[in-house]
Amino acid sequence: PKMQTLLNLDEIEAVATKQISQKCWAYYYSAGDDMISKSFNNAVYKQILLRPRVFVDCTKCDTSTTLLGHKVGIPLYVSPAAMARLAHPAGERGIAQGVSSFGALQIVSNNASMTPEQIVEGSLPGQIFGWQLYVQNERKKSEAMLARINKMDDKYKLICLTLDAPVPGKREHDERLSNVGADLPVVSGVKAANEGNRPGGGGVGQQLFFGTAADLTWKTTLPWLAKHTKLPIVLKGIQTHEDAYLAAQFAPQVKAIILSNHGGRALDTAPPAVHTLLEIRKYCPEILSRIEIWVDGGIKRGTDVVKALCLGASAVGVGRAALFGLGAGGSEGVQRTFEILKAETETCMRLLGVEKVSQLGPKHINSRAVERD
Ligand code: FNR
Repeated sequence: PKMQTLLNLDEIEAVATKQISQKCWAYYYSAGDDMISKSFNNAVYKQILLRPRVFVDCTKCDTSTTLLGHKVGIPLYVSPAAMARLAHPAGERGIAQGVSSFGALQIVSNNASMTPEQIVEGSLPGQIFGWQLYVQNERKKSEAMLARINKMDDKYKLICLTLDAPVPGKREHDERLSNVGADLPVVSGVKAANEGNRPGGGGVGQQLFFGTAADLTWKTTLPWLAKHTKLPIVLKGIQTHEDAYLAAQFAPQVKAIILSNHGGRALDTAPPAVHTLLEIRKYCPEILSRIEIWVDGGIKRGTDVVKALCLGASAVGVGRAALFGLGAGGSEGVQRTFEILKAETETCMRLLGVEKVSQLGPKHINSRAVERD
């Protein structure tokens, strides 16, 4: 179908589901165990109410903001998600093309299906990227990858270290198809080097995790990382106020944290980002001025984006939505996905009586229904 005829993210996902292979769908759609966290990630936004102010001039609306000092056109970014070429030959580069007109940050997965050089090729001046790292057991492989990224620091502006999946979650949709040939596209850098040693069987998730280190700690990993990159560090997968507080102690090396349960794909019944954000507001609100807090998981509507921003998030990531956009229509599908989210975000801001992202705050929402303690 023509992308313009698709009106919301669910419609785009439905089109993608018909077009991508069953194996790809199972990998993208799947989540841990009973997928409670995955569904809760989205449901929690539906329980937060907006508090629109009326009689306010809303002719103007500006969705731009800054992330780690970089100007971006929208407070939305592409979360790192592996294997875009399973959905479409344009792959991660197609995602880059799709978001180029929005001035949006794209964080590229450690398990991308193209090299980091290929992904940024042809990107617009000022278009920015991040590199997500799964530290490998063979540290030298990760060090070599970091060296490659450091060389492209005109494009790659951050290293995103993912902490919530030191071992893969149990994703049954994916596992069920472990005998169906994946035709895994060659993956970038680190993983390609592991290729020959990979054991057979397991879903795509299990396969990709082969070689990933499970022995990361606060004490040992950040000093190691500091030796191998000067890029700002973003810690992804923080799920409690205790860990958010700890992360803030590592500022300024750590410049942002991403509250995330990995789209529900790691530990099932782990909390949605909204709950962690509410905990932080209650127990350690001072960290909000020391590091940026980004969130991801379950974003389907502009109102979801705005609610996260009202709670203090600087940016909101989408994982599956970008992949399904790609599966539905290549880079045009990604562009349509972001066009919809941007337009919905604008409509929401205007109807709230807000002109700029920086004006959004807790006074624009009622989150009592989701506050638990
Ligand atoms: C992911 N995610 C992920 N995260 C990460 O740090 N490295 C990775 O390689 C991947 N790979 C990946 C693959 C697929 C298919 C999905 C769906 C997700 C998690 C991702 O960054 C993000 O946290 C979630 O996708 C956010 O939830 P939504 O937007 O998918 O609901």
